[in-house]
Amino acid sequence: MEVIRTTERLREVVDAARGAGRTIGLVPTMGALHAGHRSLVERARRDNDVVVVSVFVNPTQFNNPDDLRTYPRTEEADCAMLEECGVDYAFVPSVDEIYPEPDTRVFDLGPVAEVMEGAMRPGHFNGVAQIVSKLFALVRPHRAYFGEKDFQQIAVIRRMVELEGFSIEIVPCPIVRESDGLALSSRNVRLSAEARAEAPKIREILLASRDLKAQGYSPVEVARMTEDAINDTGTLEAEYFRIVDAVTMQPLARWEDAGACGAVGCATVYCGGVRLIDNITY
Ligand code: PAJ
Repeated sequence: MEVIRTTERLREVVDAARGAGRTIGLVPTMGALHAGHRSLVERARRDNDVVVVSVFVNPTQFNNPDDLRTYPRTEEADCAMLEECGVDYAFVPSVDEIYPEPDTRVFDLGPVAEVMEGAMRPGHFNGVAQIVSKLFALVRPHRAYFGEKDFQQIAVIRRMVELEGFSIEIVPCPIVRESDGLALSSRNVRLSAEARAEAPKIREILLASRDLKAQGYSPVEVARMTEDAINDTGTLEAEYFRIVDAVTMQPLARWEDAGACGAVGCATVYCGGVRLIDNITY
């Protein structure tokens, strides 16, 4: 595996690979890699001749300076894991390498980016669109891999791809969880022992929301009851829980209104001061 630090070198190797008729898979990450990231990398390894993984804590998508400052950075361990997974190129650039000048682009991401994470974290999805579009333009991969843990992010990436006219297949990958159900996240290391013990309740409550649907409650009712159940734990605090169309990200009034990809319930929950996200499909 080659660790690449410059856009110039990255362009060189991917252009050579493409010229030789090899398929390229890209996995964008912010590092602090865990088994969730690993599952994306392994999938990319199976599907493509050449695998590029980017490790870059993108400042433009952080709307909270403390979150950016304290974001876990574990480059050595990350590169060791990527090497073990048979990755060809780890792209680990500096901020100046990616943003030699400020990125002032504003993407017209539309309704998918206005709700939930888009409403709670102003500018976040525009920052995601900035970095992912830069990576796509640089690498020009055949396929790019994203985790369903960040369900709304995938909808936003699809919109960005449409806007920019990239011909890149977006491959969604299932959520990887701890054995007790907690979705793996780089932010889980911030949980205290007490908070870590409470966090699996998020998954339990989301699973119970499927039973509520089966009992005949509407999406709006299930959403309200689920949000209440989260807050009733006394240890978890729901920022939001919404049941939305899995493509448009717009709230559903009736289950029948969901399109071909169905409905998804998206939660953001504070647990011991740590902001966790999770979701469930119906
Ligand atoms: P990051 O949080 O590092 O996540 C990188 C990718 O790993 C994302 O597609 C995310 O959905 C996926 N992922 C994280 N935890 C997962 C889990 N438990 N199971 C499955 N997949 C998981 O998401 C970002 O970085 C950034 O926004 C990025 C797209 C890299 C742009 O900066």
